[in-house]
Amino acid sequence: MSNKRSFSAPVGTHDVLPPQSLEWERAIGLFSSVAHLYGFGLVINPIFEDVGVFNRGIGENSDVAKKEMYVFQDRSDRKYALRPEGTASVVRSYVQHNPTPPWKVFYVTPAFRYERPQAGRYRQHHQLGVEALGTADPNLDIEVIAMAWRFYASFGLRRVDLMVNSMGDAACRPQYIESLNEHLRAKSPKLCDEHQRTFSDNPLRVLDCKTSACIEVTQCGPMLNDSLCDECREHFSFVTQGLSMLKIPWTSNSRLVRGFDYYTRTTFEFTSTALESAQNAIGGGGRYDGLVEELGGEATPGIGFGSGIERLLLAHQAEHPAASEAPSIDAFVVDTTGDFSVQVLMDELRTANIRIDQSYDGRSMKSQLKVADRSGARLALLIGPQELSRGEITMRYLRENDESSRQISVPRDKILSEIKQYLSQVKQ
Ligand code: HAM
Repeated sequence: MSNKRSFSAPVGTHDVLPPQSLEWERAIGLFSSVAHLYGFGLVINPIFEDVGVFNRGIGENSDVAKKEMYVFQDRSDRKYALRPEGTASVVRSYVQHNPTPPWKVFYVTPAFRYERPQAGRYRQHHQLGVEALGTADPNLDIEVIAMAWRFYASFGLRRVDLMVNSMGDAACRPQYIESLNEHLRAKSPKLCDEHQRTFSDNPLRVLDCKTSACIEVTQCGPMLNDSLCDECREHFSFVTQGLSMLKIPWTSNSRLVRGFDYYTRTTFEFTSTALESAQNAIGGGGRYDGLVEELGGEATPGIGFGSGIERLLLAHQAEHPAASEAPSIDAFVVDTTGDFSVQVLMDELRTANIRIDQSYDGRSMKSQLKVADRSGARLALLIGPQELSRGEITMRYLRENDESSRQISVPRDKILSEIKQYLSQVKQ
C-alpha cells in the first residue's frame, strides 16, 4: 500500500471548480461593469499587511481583531495579518499613494477570519467591495448604496432587504456611549456571560449581540438615533430621502452598529430573505470618516461596502433553484485523423470567437462523441479520413431531439458562417 499522504483544503475553506465557477465569473464580471458605471476603478492590494493596519483600522477590541485574525511572523520577524476585510488595506494604500480625491475604487478579494465554519460562514471567504474617499457629501452615500442595490438586482436577486442607520460622529457619539455604558452598568447582571465581563471595553458591541439577554437589556436603553447631533441628523435624513427618491426601499435599524470600530454616520446592511437568518447578510458597509487619520493620513472622509460572493451565490441558488448553467463551449471537435489541418481549423474558429474544445490521446470516435456530449457543447464537428479528403466537415447538432435533422455536411470554407448562423438562432 502507498504511504503517500493526500491533502484536503483547510477547514472552513473551499475549492471553486468549473462549472460552478461560471457563477463566480458572472458575479465578478457584473460587479466590475456596475462599478464602472458609477466611476469606480479597480484596486489590488496585498492579502497581508502589517498587523497594525487592522488593529488600528478595524479596532483592537473588535471581535475580528481579537479572536479571528490570522496573524503570523515572517522569516524576518515582521508581524503580519491576512486581511480579514478589504477597507483597512485600501485606506492604507490611499494614505501611502496620496491620490487626488475623490478616489473611487472597487476590489475583488479573499478575506480570512478564524470563525466557526458553517454553511455561508467560512475561514476564507471572498468579497466584492468599493471604497470612495475624499468627501462627506451625503450624495456619495446614496450613490454607494444605490450601486449595491442595482448590482443585486442585475444579478437576479429580488428578495433583498436594506437596513440603514447613523452611528453619529465625534461630536455626538462619545456622549451616547457614555449614557449607554451607564445603562449597561446598571443592568450588567442581566447581560450575556461574555458582555457581563466586556461591555465597558466597547459598549456599542452589546447592541450587535444576538443573545436574548443582551437584546432585552438594550431594548429599554438609550438609542443612537435619539442622540444624533444636528449635522448627523441632517446627513442621515438627506441619505434616506435620496434612497426614497430612487425608489430603493429601506428600513431604519438603530441597532445596526456593525462589527468594526471605524464606522461613523451612515451604516447599512443588505440581507437576503431567501437565506437562513444566521448567515443572511449578503453585504454591508458604511462611512468611516476617521479611518484615514487613524492610519496616519490627513483627515479624509470615506464610505464603502463589501459583499460576500459565497453568500450572493447562496442567495441566488435559493431564489432560482432550477436556473441552468449556460454552456461554456459552443462546439466540440471529434477528430479521428490527427491531421494538423484540424488544429488550423480550431485556431481559425477560436480567432472568430467560437468556443471550441477537443479530446486528446487519439481516442475512438465513439469515446470522443461521449466526451462531446458531456461537454455541454451545442455542436460536434466530426472530421474523419473521408471528410478530410472531400474538404468537408460533418456538423452534428448535439441538442436537437429530431434524429432526421441531427447532422449535415458542410464544406470546410463555409463552416464558420454555418456555426455562427446556428449559434445566433439558438441563443435568441
Ligand atoms: P462585513 O460585514 O464584515 O464588512 O463583510 C461584508 C460581507 O462579507 C458580509 O455582509 C458577508 O456577506 C460577507 N462575509 C463576512 N464574513 C464572512 C464569512 N466568514 N463567510 C462568508 N461570508 C462572509 C466588511 O468586511 C467591510 N469591510 C465592508 C465595508 C467596506 N465597509 C466599508 N467599506
